[in-house]
Amino acid sequence: MAIRTWASRLGWPPAPASTVRKSPASGVGWPGGGAGSAPWVVAAPVIGASTDDEPTAPEADVSRETEAPVADHAPDSEAGVSRETSPAVPPTPEPTPIAAEAERALRVRNVDLGNRFPSPAVTRVLTVANQKGGVGKTTTTVNLAVALAVHGCSVLVIDLDPQGNASTGLGVPHHSGVPSIYDVLIDNRPMLDAVAVVDAAPRLHCVPATIDLAGAEIELVSIVARESRLRRALAKYLADLRASSVDPPDYVLIDCPPSLGLLTVNALVAAREVLIPIQCEYYALEGLRQLMSNIDLVTAHLNADLTVSTILLTMYDARTRLADQVTREVRAHFGELVLESVIPRSIRVSEAPGYGQSVITYDPGSRGAMSYLRAARELAGRPAPDASALSARADRAPAAAAR
Ligand SMILES: Nc1ncnc2c1ncn2[C@@H]1O[C@H](COP(=O)(O)OP(=O)(O)O)[C@@H](O)[C@H]1O
Ligand SMILES: [Mg+2]
Repeated sequence: MAIRTWASRLGWPPAPASTVRKSPASGVGWPGGGAGSAPWVVAAPVIGASTDDEPTAPEADVSRETEAPVADHAPDSEAGVSRETSPAVPPTPEPTPIAAEAERALRVRNVDLGNRFPSPAVTRVLTVANQKGGVGKTTTTVNLAVALAVHGCSVLVIDLDPQGNASTGLGVPHHSGVPSIYDVLIDNRPMLDAVAVVDAAPRLHCVPATIDLAGAEIELVSIVARESRLRRALAKYLADLRASSVDPPDYVLIDCPPSLGLLTVNALVAAREVLIPIQCEYYALEGLRQLMSNIDLVTAHLNADLTVSTILLTMYDARTRLADQVTREVRAHFGELVLESVIPRSIRVSEAPGYGQSVITYDPGSRGAMSYLRAARELAGRPAPDASALSARADRAPAAAAR
């Protein structure tokens, strides 16, 4: 409704209407319904009504219970005022679907207009990589993308995992037959054909992954320039946009599969930056040495500009000493590459993809949403990396796995 009209007025990218597909407003509709079910009926983002129940993370890293849902964007005088005691925010126990959607649209629009993140001078291409599964790659990709987009940045998410979880999390169809990153990589289909509009925020788009991508690792082996397929396709896409006099996206976020195969190599070759999510759990650093050495190989032979620019600590559980231990160890090792913002373990974060949403649209006031908003702000506030300087700073071999 309002948000859609507004989004379409902004109209990025410029692809002809016939080439840009619209994702269903209702996302994937799980649980309890098909594509037409309405996720907001189950969990509308009611101001002051976050039901987040995750433990508290360190005070500098996660939002406070008393923080208003849009405190990032509220005037200073309102910061820190308890939502429970604010007379201006009466409780709204059961919003109607229309009211909930209107509120969400307003929230997104106000965030965008009131508090834009700086746009980079040139498109920043970040690969979100870690060959361990379940560390928060997809969750980070989806939520950073939405956070950046609701703050006025144009963002393209490329789902490079055959599981298609990023597509699911953004509410983009990715069943077999949908134009996808597989067609781009294997069949030379222009990326413009596979770009889908994401409803969550204006100027947010996604190239989905279908299950076909599962075979791509093997199919790529016999294709010429197999490591550079994504880089070439992305370069052509950006050139196509420029040829149509449309600004290229501010950010391209590539969600990697949990492996170091050819798909991940393609992502590393296509990007300028690597963002590594590290889970605050046992064996957090295990495997990082291998990831770093693969990144070094890519840097040496295929993409000299590549650098690890950002590390994000995820699934922080304040109840465990281990989380602090991992946090300290990662910060000691990677220094300023590690974002100050830490993502807490949060039920709301894990629920959101089930409704085809990011936590930022699913429950904007939750700690998970606030943490991702802060992380996105940090990311956007950092200058695009100087590859040589950052490479020198990042010692590529983590000292020891946290145990
Ligand atoms: N901060 C978090 N709190 C709770 N659950 C999370 C959090 N981040 C991710 N998850 C959940 O953990 C699982 C793995 O996350 P995911 O982003 O898919 O990891 P990866 O892409 O690295 O495999 C998913 O079920 C996701 O919903
Ligand atoms: Mg994933």
